[in-house]
Amino acid sequence: MRSSFPVLAAGLLIACKSLLFVVPSAAPRSVAKALKQDGINSAASQPSFDACSLAATAAVALTAAAVASRRSVTAAGRQSKIVRQARGGDAKGALVVIAGPPAAGKGTQCEKIKEQYGFVHISTGDILRENVKNGTELGLKAKGFMDSGALVPSELIVDLVKDRLTQDDVKEKGCLLDGFPRAPDQAQAMVDAGIKVDKFLLIEVPDDTLVERGCGRRLDPETGDIYHLKFKPPPEDVVERLVHRSDDQEEAIRSRLKIYHEQIDGITPFFKDQVYRLDGTSKPDEVFGLVTNGLSDL
Ligand code: AP5
Repeated sequence: MRSSFPVLAAGLLIACKSLLFVVPSAAPRSVAKALKQDGINSAASQPSFDACSLAATAAVALTAAAVASRRSVTAAGRQSKIVRQARGGDAKGALVVIAGPPAAGKGTQCEKIKEQYGFVHISTGDILRENVKNGTELGLKAKGFMDSGALVPSELIVDLVKDRLTQDDVKEKGCLLDGFPRAPDQAQAMVDAGIKVDKFLLIEVPDDTLVERGCGRRLDPETGDIYHLKFKPPPEDVVERLVHRSDDQEEAIRSRLKIYHEQIDGITPFFKDQVYRLDGTSKPDEVFGLVTNGLSDL
């Protein structure tokens, strides 16, 4: 018994130190800080056995709490994975739709989401504008609809989006789908094609705020940056080259808003378990906080 004591003590000490390395990273900051204040999470410190047993008890309690609290997140994550597997079988990345009325801040939030989550950003509005600029057949067909604030016919855009969603970068990194589906028949086309959505972010902003945001918006054609004359003034050196979108006149914005309100209630039922509504009226960084809450279970 006497000869086994040093071995037992050494074993306890090693176990205790191991726990102390594990606890701070897994524990809430306040607990880690409390342990640190007790002077027992430094590798250089020599903890007493009392301190060790305290830390071990705390570690066991924290582990149990962490397991319990992560169970629901894990279940949601598992659900998302099942959904992704259903989309083409081998898709590893999530499919996130970002929706909302014109000028709600979808493009602004997409920049932030891309940076944080690494998704491929697919904007049907950007694709169509690029086609208009390049005078392609699609662009020539779409231009009149876009200038007046109407939706382009779904048959011009659905196959293009479906093809894009099957490409490898999207399957690997996940996708942020901006501006699609825009009508119930587009949502139906996604369902028919077996395209499953992991999250449907819906940004909500009152109409009058949207008119002000749209009228003041300016785009940098070289960098793609989005500015607003009042809310996000552009730097002096880029002002000359900024573009005012042809559909960013008040009349066209009001017409886009009317169409949006007519369509959205026919779209959300297709994604009722994935819809996450968020208030888009505060500053872009605050809105982004709400977006990250919405994406926390992916
Ligand atoms: P699209 O390009 O998709 O336009 P949209 O949905 O009308 O959205 P916007 O690009 O106008 O606004 P946004 O929400 O991205 O806002 P942003 O971040 O720029 O579509 C254009 C057209 O293409 C359609 O009308 C249609 O014709 C056609 N089309 C596209 N997809 C289609 C489809 N699937 N089917 C059929 N037709 C389709 O922000 C706006 C301004 O507000 C900026 O100046 C910004 O700086 C500012 N801002 C942003 N956030 C904030 C904030 N939190 N506080 C203050 N200011 C802010």
